[in-house]
Amino acid sequence: MAILVLSSPLPAQPFVDALRALAPGIPVWSEADDPPAEKVEALLAWRLKPGTVPRYPKLRVLCSVGAGAEKLLVEDVPDHVSVTRVVDPLQAQEIAQYVLACTLRFTRELPLYEQQQSRAEWRRHPVRPASRCRVGLLGLGAVGQAVARAFAPLGYEVSAWVRRGREWPGVQVFSGTDGLHRLLARSDILVCTLPLTADTRGLLDAATLRRLPRGAVLVNVGRGEHLVEADLRLLLDEGHLAGAALDVFEREPPKPEHWIWRHPRVLATPHIAAQASTETVAQQCLDALQRARDGLPQPHAVDRRAGY
Ligand code: GLV
Repeated sequence: MAILVLSSPLPAQPFVDALRALAPGIPVWSEADDPPAEKVEALLAWRLKPGTVPRYPKLRVLCSVGAGAEKLLVEDVPDHVSVTRVVDPLQAQEIAQYVLACTLRFTRELPLYEQQQSRAEWRRHPVRPASRCRVGLLGLGAVGQAVARAFAPLGYEVSAWVRRGREWPGVQVFSGTDGLHRLLARSDILVCTLPLTADTRGLLDAATLRRLPRGAVLVNVGRGEHLVEADLRLLLDEGHLAGAALDVFEREPPKPEHWIWRHPRVLATPHIAAQASTETVAQQCLDALQRARDGLPQPHAVDRRAGY
């Protein structure tokens, strides 16, 4: 029985090497090996096309190479196949670093000072008060919590919008539609860490973004499909939003002619906020396979009904 790595567009070899190093007794293949389908017991993948999973009749577990597993939730995954995602505290910490870097870039006016430096201009501006740097988190899962912890010592007020209300020290928590509107109204920095589901797709549209205070900034580390990019452009050009830091896009990479590359108030990065380590991905895939063989529950299972 074997593991098949289908990580495209990410290269498969690093995952194959890591799995082989951790479990020398288990055959590990990539697509290029053209493996015998009836031997495949686990798939390690980033996205799947419908029709892929039914090719593997002995499949027990479908493991995502990422924290977000929405691209594996195709309709033809049989119920007996567990779907798992990566949960890596280091990855959450790296995303928090990215969010912090992007937020401070805006709140501490670094683009302005970089422009001034290019003109050898010595000009001091008042520091934006913390009361105008209120952070609103969409989602308070492993990533959202790491982001909230990173902001805690900075004096910026942090609120979060969650599906089910729960207490979180130092964070004011909102839920429901009314809660979303209240969170938006008090978010000078809106950070999206949500999973992509039918409910969250397109959530960041013009109606949502317009509820942010004038001069707000969006940081998107969720998925590109959370954001309606054309609506973001509208609000940036109207001056309602002061900027956006985007690590994820509707289409990755965006086409070279896409406006988003060149907009003066957009910081666009190529989905690098964090990458789970190959060893962690491989280890969690092996653990998931062992648990599936032993009939044990999966600690990192994706709830297919909820979509994450
Ligand atoms: C990256 O986007 C991930 O889901 O891990």
